[in-house]
Amino acid sequence: MSEILQSILAKATAELGALQTRPEFEAAKARYVGPNGELTAVMKQMGALPKEERPAFGKQVNETKVKLAAELESALRRVEAAEVAAQLGPPVDPTLPSPDPGPGTYHPLTLVREEMCRILRKVGFTVADGPEVETEFYCFDALNTPADHPARDAQDTFYFPGGARFGNVAKRNPEEKYLLRTHTSSVQIRTMLQGPPPIRIVSPGRVYRRDTSDATHSANFHQLECLYVDKNVTVRDLKALLDYIFAALLGSGTKTRFRPHYFGYTEPSFEVDLAAKHLPKVNKEWIEIGGCGMVDPTVFSTVGYDPAVWTGYAFGMGLERLAMLLYGIDDIRHFYQNDLRFLRQFS
Ligand code: DAH
Repeated sequence: MSEILQSILAKATAELGALQTRPEFEAAKARYVGPNGELTAVMKQMGALPKEERPAFGKQVNETKVKLAAELESALRRVEAAEVAAQLGPPVDPTLPSPDPGPGTYHPLTLVREEMCRILRKVGFTVADGPEVETEFYCFDALNTPADHPARDAQDTFYFPGGARFGNVAKRNPEEKYLLRTHTSSVQIRTMLQGPPPIRIVSPGRVYRRDTSDATHSANFHQLECLYVDKNVTVRDLKALLDYIFAALLGSGTKTRFRPHYFGYTEPSFEVDLAAKHLPKVNKEWIEIGGCGMVDPTVFSTVGYDPAVWTGYAFGMGLERLAMLLYGIDDIRHFYQNDLRFLRQFS
């Protein structure tokens, strides 16, 4: 009997030492200590032994069981360690320098935004900010945009449900809705309500519209807004500033043109076109780049400025479109896809 036990143990030790996977382990375990296992079979023979031999045999069986259990345990630990190692992948040395290729580069929209702010700072503008969640007052009402204006339609604007609350954006009246701002023009109102003229601000930021994404549309894009309020401001000042900033950004060959238009918050209002034939992919003679005009007296009254004393101009434009012109980018979606092959071109 004891030879049988020894041979079982020797065989099991060799087998358990060589196995690699959990199924192999389970199979081996069943072969020795399972209901039909070899050791189990030997134990079943105990009853057939003469009574006086049983204690000695029982002791041997127990010793074998204990040794086998230890072998099984160590095999299981080995299998488990191999499983964890496979999940973790190749070993890493955390003390080595990071494989990160470097500090990264600026996004093209950041580059254009910063360049525009730099150009405007040179002529006295300071950067102003406003929230992306707005109320109807700042986004529309105070900008003299009536309730039936298409921009206010639920098809065009992302409104929040009636119960939505934003502790850091105060409503003027409890009835009005929260929305994602459709333009940066809301910052004009916020700035004017903060204090008296003169005012000279530039406000870049994210805006939202219910647009279906295609090569030239995105439900989320960026604008840059400017507002200038002082005495005796004229359309000439507006045109001169636009000529200056576009020549500074795109080169001295850039021309601008005004086309009459309607915006509730300016009177007169214009759309601004650019011609910059020296730039790649700008093959049309004129490209629309933004809207502008002289601040409407109604807006001044709303913010408590005397329209008989104060005059001003405002304009807004899309940063994506500027960046597309400047860098020859033909699809607005490139800006948002985080494709490093695209982004690395702007280092
Ligand atoms: N808010 C307008 C838009 O999103 C652009 C604009 C037009 C801004 C005229 C202005 C302005 O400041 O005076 O299309």
